[in-house]
Amino acid sequence: MQGEKVEEFERKFCEYKGSKYAVAVSSGTAALHLALLSEEIKEDDEVICPSLSFIATANSIKFVNAKPVFCDVEKHNVIINPGDAEKLITGKTKAILIVHQIGFACDIDGFKKLAEKHNLKLIEDAACAIGSGYKGRKIGGDSSLACFSFHPRKIVTTGEGGMITTNNRETYERIRALRNHGISGDKFIYNGYNYRMTDIQASIGIIQLSRMEKYLENRKMIASMYDDFFEKDSRFITIKNKEFSDTNYQSYCVYIKPESGININGLIEKMNNNGISLRKGITAIHKQDSFSEFNNLKLVNTEDMSENSILLPVYYPLEEKEIKYILENLKTIIN
Ligand SMILES: Cc1ncc(COP(=O)(O)O)c(C=O)c1O
Repeated sequence: MQGEKVEEFERKFCEYKGSKYAVAVSSGTAALHLALLSEEIKEDDEVICPSLSFIATANSIKFVNAKPVFCDVEKHNVIINPGDAEKLITGKTKAILIVHQIGFACDIDGFKKLAEKHNLKLIEDAACAIGSGYKGRKIGGDSSLACFSFHPRKIVTTGEGGMITTNNRETYERIRALRNHGISGDKFIYNGYNYRMTDIQASIGIIQLSRMEKYLENRKMIASMYDDFFEKDSRFITIKNKEFSDTNYQSYCVYIKPESGININGLIEKMNNNGISLRKGITAIHKQDSFSEFNNLKLVNTEDMSENSILLPVYYPLEEKEIKYILENLKTIIN
């Protein structure tokens, strides 16, 4: 049931982020869906978003019968930039859905300017970006709409869950109604959903949120050990924070140069056999069967990054000796 613990979690989330409003929902995907609905994105509208993302980013656009227009990421990086997005704007474009991928902030101010210039809505998929910063501000604090996930893999989890932050009163009220069957007060005002978070989930979220700094500290330590290792080896390219970004290291992704001769699938298999969960890089959505109409689209940087990068274990409380074990195994396999 959604009750006072949900309200407390929302209040604490606002305090942490510095946003005026927050609405807790049942997942990050539900958050994205409601954000698009609240901005009245509908059939035949185009929404610019990256392809290098978890499938839910683009699925949420499908939920409202709009069309994703995939933007390539920067070379050897995981984020899109306003200049590349602008080239994709047409008369049908209604929104830009940016993704702060694995915690790395996009140029939020640059996208805000772009959205204003072309009269577009800006939605932030911040599913991976709780605890991440942009120019010293917390992501989602001054957003028109930012969507977070509390899936178990995320830094703050509620088992399953999500949150939307906004600074617009009307948007807030619309999303609150849409989350609960379209009910506002005692009136049905929209065709709504059951995307409520329960008090049980919110109680977990409140505790998790209070431990955030400890989780972030641990992740920065893990990432700096990985950085030290990979930056000494010219076969790898690490992802760097842009001058405006302060990542939470939701995941640690490293690019492996194709000319290094390292067989990524073989490496993953051997590491997994040694009990280490290594995974291939982030999905390229336009290459998935469920987006077959986009399979022939060429997004050079997205495909390169997706095919030639790996994700290393990052979780609390991964300790120094375990990270050394991971890196020793990796070294033996690749040398
Ligand atoms: C970028 C991105 N967007 C959306 C989602 C969806 O969040 P959820 O699993 O809470 O529905 C995820 C989840 O991993 C994600 O990584």
